[in-house]
Amino acid sequence: MELKTKSGDPVRQRTACLVVGVYERRRLSDAARAVDTASDGYLSGLLRRGDLEGQVGQTLLLPDVPGVRADRVLLVGLGRERDLNERSYRKAVAQAAQALDSAGAGEATVCLAELPVRGRDLGWRVASAAETLETAGYRFDTFKSQPQPPRRPLRQATLAVPRRADLRRAQPAVTLGQATGRGANLARDLGNTPANVCTPTYLGEQAEALAARFDAVEAEVLGPDAIAEQGMAALRAVADGAQTPPRLVVLHYRGADAAQAPLALVGKGVTFDSGGISIKPSEGMDEMKYDMAGAAAVLGTVHAAAEAGLPLNLAAVVPATENMPDGRATRPGDIIGSRDGQRIEVLNTDAEGRLVLADALSYARDLQPAEVIDMATLTGSAIIGLGHHRHAVMGNAPGLLRDLLQAGDRAGDPGWELPLDEAYDEQLSSPFADVANIGGRPAGTITAGCFLQRFAHGLRWAHLDIAGTAWRSGERKGATGRPVPLLTHFLAGRAGWSP
Ligand code: BES
Ligand code: MN
Ligand code: ZN
Repeated sequence: MELKTKSGDPVRQRTACLVVGVYERRRLSDAARAVDTASDGYLSGLLRRGDLEGQVGQTLLLPDVPGVRADRVLLVGLGRERDLNERSYRKAVAQAAQALDSAGAGEATVCLAELPVRGRDLGWRVASAAETLETAGYRFDTFKSQPQPPRRPLRQATLAVPRRADLRRAQPAVTLGQATGRGANLARDLGNTPANVCTPTYLGEQAEALAARFDAVEAEVLGPDAIAEQGMAALRAVADGAQTPPRLVVLHYRGADAAQAPLALVGKGVTFDSGGISIKPSEGMDEMKYDMAGAAAVLGTVHAAAEAGLPLNLAAVVPATENMPDGRATRPGDIIGSRDGQRIEVLNTDAEGRLVLADALSYARDLQPAEVIDMATLTGSAIIGLGHHRHAVMGNAPGLLRDLLQAGDRAGDPGWELPLDEAYDEQLSSPFADVANIGGRPAGTITAGCFLQRFAHGLRWAHLDIAGTAWRSGERKGATGRPVPLLTHFLAGRAGWSP
């Protein structure tokens, strides 16, 4: 979508559709009041008649409103004025975007960034609206023989801001919000692509495509031989059971001086997780195509950073493989090595994510990053603990964790911290090797974090378990694009770029 910002009187905007907000109890937003005045009370007449209650996200499309230059006016419900918050604001924008897609206007001027969202400034409101407009119309119909997209989807939107002086802050906010939305959409596409197409090879090609698109991005893709040369025995042990060869995908984004240490992003890229020899039950196993959602988020975030031109350096590392059962697959009880040198007793081959991440963290360490953030659909118990709303966040650097959690709140993509006490770590002791790959049923998300922490020694490191948040099941099945918004906002903050 093409997005821009503009200031000026709503009633004087020449546009196919002017979008204005209306609260419950017939309260008008500033833009709606301007339209009401210009149209001699047309809107207040409709509201008095009860045509729109104003509940959050309700919409009403009005053609030929007198006194305005717009071809149509779209009213969007905002709920009670004093209850307007981040969530209702985003919902109102998303519903407006949906209505605009079906209205067939193709283009619109959206007057919602003026709304007073408690605790959020204009930059936040513009960035959130831009991101939401970019993501609300997302569809994944690549594999439909006859896709049925809206006849005239919204292609172009102008985000109106109240004053000329607001434009200076609104412009970078549009850039950041739009880059966030597009990065999330890329992550969704990768996640939704089935595992027979989205293989480790495919992830490598997608990284190369990203590098071809942005001058500041460079890709390096290691195949089985290079992975062996690297001593990545843990990644290999998972890949041993698969027919498709593994990849270690490395991306560099250079947005700042070469002397500046990069931030490292590490994403689990298990393109299908059958469980291996510790095979999973068959119900819902199709959803294990999403087990590369960490990798997808890493690519999406690099895309966002590159598109926004964030002034920082990134190093992205994605260990990509399938986890399959086979005659050559790792068996429960096998003891394997790792790039770091620690020996691991594999008690359950379904705890494969931590194995591939262990080697990726070790590889990332050699790139001398200032901080490392890994993300992974790592444990089913993250869903038990936090459901589908918050990521589980763990790590060894309090300042990093605080900033990630804050970025998540700001981005509407929140996490929640879990502890990594030594007592949990002791659950991983093995009678035969240095560490076991599972810590028993209690606190499964935490013991997975403890396992990774053992391979993150000497790093400022954080881990996001996104098992509950990366995709939705059921009627609205599909990848969410999370945690791209959290990460993009975090990176913007690290780059001193807080719109
Ligand atoms: N990819 C799964 C985690 C997962 C399961 C994410 C279900 C989302 C939904 C991971 O590789 C896994 O299988 N973890 C095991 C770990 C256990 C064997 C210690 C799990 O959570 O059951
Ligand atoms: Mn598994
Ligand atoms: Zn997995």
